[in-house]
Amino acid sequence: MTLKLGVNIDHIATLRQARRAPYPDPVDAAAVCLSTGADYIVVHLRKDERHINEKDVARLCKTFPGKIHLECSYTPELEKAALKYKPFSVCIVPEEPGEVTTTGGLKFTPKVQKRLMEMIDALHKKKILVSLFVSPAAADIRTAAKLGADIVELCTRDYSEATTAKASRKLLQDLALSTLLAKELGLEVHAGHGLDYHNVLAVADIGGMACMNIGFSIITRSVFAGLPAAVSEMKGLL
Ligand code: PXP
Repeated sequence: MTLKLGVNIDHIATLRQARRAPYPDPVDAAAVCLSTGADYIVVHLRKDERHINEKDVARLCKTFPGKIHLECSYTPELEKAALKYKPFSVCIVPEEPGEVTTTGGLKFTPKVQKRLMEMIDALHKKKILVSLFVSPAAADIRTAAKLGADIVELCTRDYSEATTAKASRKLLQDLALSTLLAKELGLEVHAGHGLDYHNVLAVADIGGMACMNIGFSIITRSVFAGLPAAVSEMKGLL
């Protein structure tokens, strides 16, 4: 099985919002990414719509059916948007006030689990695949399976920020063991957050991974290399 690449294009919209201009258009960026190696387009609809907005999600889902992987938190408003625009899949992520980017996997308190079960059920009724963004920890993988997720996306943030070889090895081992467990439980496995052209290789080598969701490193590389080259170089590494 070849490893799939989901390119997160949030920061194309960040650039647009810096001037509140009509361009660069995420729909144009998605077309370039899909024609140069991306298997999916990933966008994160945040409560404050600081980059991707609801209109972008509507246009992307309409233009690229079967290709849009929407990340959002579990608020009723964001659930409503996901159900309305019907992306191919939804990754439910935590969203903390004031965060610069997602800080980690979901925290499965009883209240959050109850809410996730409702949202997963509603998404499944619309035939939307559901992914849960989780820490690479056995208890969280088991909870994701119990809640009825189709996919787990393993958070690679700690791995990507590791400062010693020893810490990096340990975090890679956690990712490998989590992948094994998730596969045993019948879940598809994705990984993402903080992956770049150097640290992606070790994660891509973990057997059983299905997809890498990568944004910041590709979009920033594209400033110098161009978007087609940045996407095809990353796809070439997987
Ligand atoms: N996966 C998830 C669940 C995320 O929240 C993000 C960031 O929006 C990414 C992947 C992509 O992370 P990065 O932009 O660091 O590659």
